Amino acid sequence: MGEFAPCPAEALKAAEAACGSPVELTEITDRRGSAVWKATGAVATVAIKHGYGEGGETTAREATVLDQLAGYTVVSGQATEGVWYVTPWLDGPSTWKVFAPVRKGGESGGRQRNCDTPALAGAVELCRAVADLHAAGWVHGDLQPSHGVHTGSGAKLIDFAWSWHKATQTAPWPKFYGGITHLVAPELAAWIVDGPQPVTPSGPSDIYALAGVLWTCVTGRWPLDYRAADIGPDTGPADRRAVIATGEIPLDSATPWPALQDVLRPVLLAGPDDRPTAAELGDTLASLP
Ligand SMILES: Nc1ncnc2c1ncn2[C@@H]1O[C@H](COP(=O)(O)OP(=O)(O)O)[C@@H](O)[C@H]1O
Ligand SMILES: [Mg+2]
Repeated sequence: MGEFAPCPAEALKAAEAACGSPVELTEITDRRGSAVWKATGAVATVAIKHGYGEGGETTAREATVLDQLAGYTVVSGQATEGVWYVTPWLDGPSTWKVFAPVRKGGESGGRQRNCDTPALAGAVELCRAVADLHAAGWVHGDLQPSHGVHTGSGAKLIDFAWSWHKATQTAPWPKFYGGITHLVAPELAAWIVDGPQPVTPSGPSDIYALAGVLWTCVTGRWPLDYRAADIGPDTGPADRRAVIATGEIPLDSATPWPALQDVLRPVLLAGPDDRPTAAELGDTLASLP
């Protein structure tokens, strides 16, 4: 990973105020202008995120969102090196991890799945977390297999850098390139390609990404069959988005969990107006035999 960014002194102080001093810092990720630490103290554990360079602006936006979301708390500030925030650490595996037994094809995943498997319960939980966010008027904008954390009291979402509230009617950023490229809905990709900016993700584009997250967690592969569209692994995001925008890339043909994928497939193939809500998708998954 190379050299990890230093944790700003102000952020460390805020973490100590929340957790008790001293805290033990664990480096989690440092990429594209933001670093995350887990800070553990005697009374609590928090996540510290530090956005530097271009990451400063997105981290500041994210702190503003966390401050407005029910069920989240945040303390944030500006340091000479950038923008930081401190928020409670969410304890539990990511959606990607919850599905690991399914991808291994072992007995707990494998072919004998039913409603009680942790993966299916996790899929339903993730849909409900997105449904709650949408019900409160928010769009996430960057749903990914690692942006759902499955805590003892349900899934919680993280990484709200590209989230916006529909009541504001204006995008809180000058330019948006669509979160993780592989999970950008075709109509959103087309808007990014054709403009005008600022592009805003929508409830339906979140639903495409949500179905894509679950598909990816099941198969271990991105939803679209890029080989069929002659898109190599080295294709950059702009070129990849341009082909996604055509809506003509077929879905990957691997079907390790047909019953679940039969629910996700029509969602990934539907136009934005024909996609279910997150609550509907969750209910359908919950009723799978
Ligand atoms: N509040 C949190 N609770 C638990 N883990 C977190 C939290 N915030 C971030 N993480 C961990 O840090 C990783 C990176 O966080 P994220 O906000 O996605 O940063 P990035 O901007 O680098 O994508 C996540 O995948 C997760 O493992
Ligand atoms: Mg992230």
